[in-house]
Amino acid sequence: MFVRRIAVVGTGYVGLTTGACLASLGHRVVCADVDALKVARLEAGQVDILEPGLAGLVREGATAGRLSFTVGARDAVRDAEVVFLCLPTPMGAGGAADLSAVEDVAAVIRDVLPYGCVVVCKSTVPVGTSTRVAALLDREDVAVVSNPEFLREGSAVRDFLHPDRIVVGSDSPQAAERVAALFAKLGAPTVLMDAASAEMVKYAANCFLAMKLSYVNAVAELCELVGADVTAVTDGMGYDKRIGGSFLKPGPGWGGSCLPKDTHAMVRIAEGVGVDFTLVQATIDTNVRQRQRVVDKLRAAVGPLAGTRIGVLGLAFKAGTNDLRDSPALAVAELLAFEGAELVAYDPEIDRPLVGMTVVDDPYVAVSGAAAVVLLTEWPQFRTLDWTRVASVMSGTTVLDTRNHLDPDALRRAGLTLRGVGRPVEVPFS
Ligand code: UDX
Repeated sequence: MFVRRIAVVGTGYVGLTTGACLASLGHRVVCADVDALKVARLEAGQVDILEPGLAGLVREGATAGRLSFTVGARDAVRDAEVVFLCLPTPMGAGGAADLSAVEDVAAVIRDVLPYGCVVVCKSTVPVGTSTRVAALLDREDVAVVSNPEFLREGSAVRDFLHPDRIVVGSDSPQAAERVAALFAKLGAPTVLMDAASAEMVKYAANCFLAMKLSYVNAVAELCELVGADVTAVTDGMGYDKRIGGSFLKPGPGWGGSCLPKDTHAMVRIAEGVGVDFTLVQATIDTNVRQRQRVVDKLRAAVGPLAGTRIGVLGLAFKAGTNDLRDSPALAVAELLAFEGAELVAYDPEIDRPLVGMTVVDDPYVAVSGAAAVVLLTEWPQFRTLDWTRVASVMSGTTVLDTRNHLDPDALRRAGLTLRGVGRPVEVPFS
């Protein structure tokens, strides 16, 4: 394998994972960030991102002399054969991706990039961005490649080192081959294509995943109304290889840093070329409704929510992360607060104050005096709460489990009434 000198610009969870993993494959990697404090912390081996295995890889890479950190992109790229841009592309005006970070860095590095180097766009960017970056760089000797990431928060390192596939797109086949070769050791199926197609793969994949979830959430709603159990239904569907059993769990709606942003961006991309992508729009609308349904269910169970105390279990957008970006739990909490509910919340990884609720550091305090408890994030430790103790401190008996995560028997034994999603109501043993 060729060992390459690589620069990674941006040390968010994608950039840092990419840098640390490429270093673990043997490459020499410099990671750059504009935040000098963050760089100093990384140099000292301190990783602030909650990502299993990442801190270990960062320290290992630094000790082996393969991974280093620097402030600013210019310094990092000076000696690089391949430059990865791992920059934020947040939702901008009207739902389109905001590319200013990518454009700024392109302007900063254009005259320091070594002759013949390859610039790789790893951030999720609208179709045509690689071409735009190439135009901004305006360097005939520098090829631009799209290499979308498919990293899930909470398993980013594992996803990087054991990918289902690697997608590399460029209008220069040689540049695409050079980037693909960086990952050769992983032995993953590698799909080479043109740049626009690679950019589209990311949106098409993430929108499909979001659509799968909205579909399952809508099926769950029907299950409740016709007396079916969505867990059995998705089991029965998932064995069909054309459907697949993963990404079929209903919940309070999907969130996080990617799916909401990418679905909105896809609708804007379609609009930009005169297409009304109703399927993706319906996926988004169904997700908005799914959050409202949580509130409606609570209201149906305990009556008007104004002045009613609700215990909230979980705030992160999914278990295993402390990320609150586009968290469905926060969206539900906001709707509940809007109706005047009094919210006391607990999340094992969140201890900072949040608007509209009291955040406590003990689950039993969160549920104390609550007319109802709503579970919004599937933290494993919620399954093993002492439900008899929960029942003894609550003022009511309703537990709404929006992830079908809890053990119905444990709650029934504790005298609690469990409402799940897409399932019949579980009433206490009498
Ligand atoms: C996602 C994609 O999976 C990843 O490939 C992409 O590159 C980035 O976006 P991530 O945002 O980390 O990753 O979260 P993911 O695990 O995909 O979950 C997204 C949302 O869907 C979460 O809110 C999660 O709770 C929800 N979800 C997921 C469900 O409600 N049910 C499921 O079965 C799976």
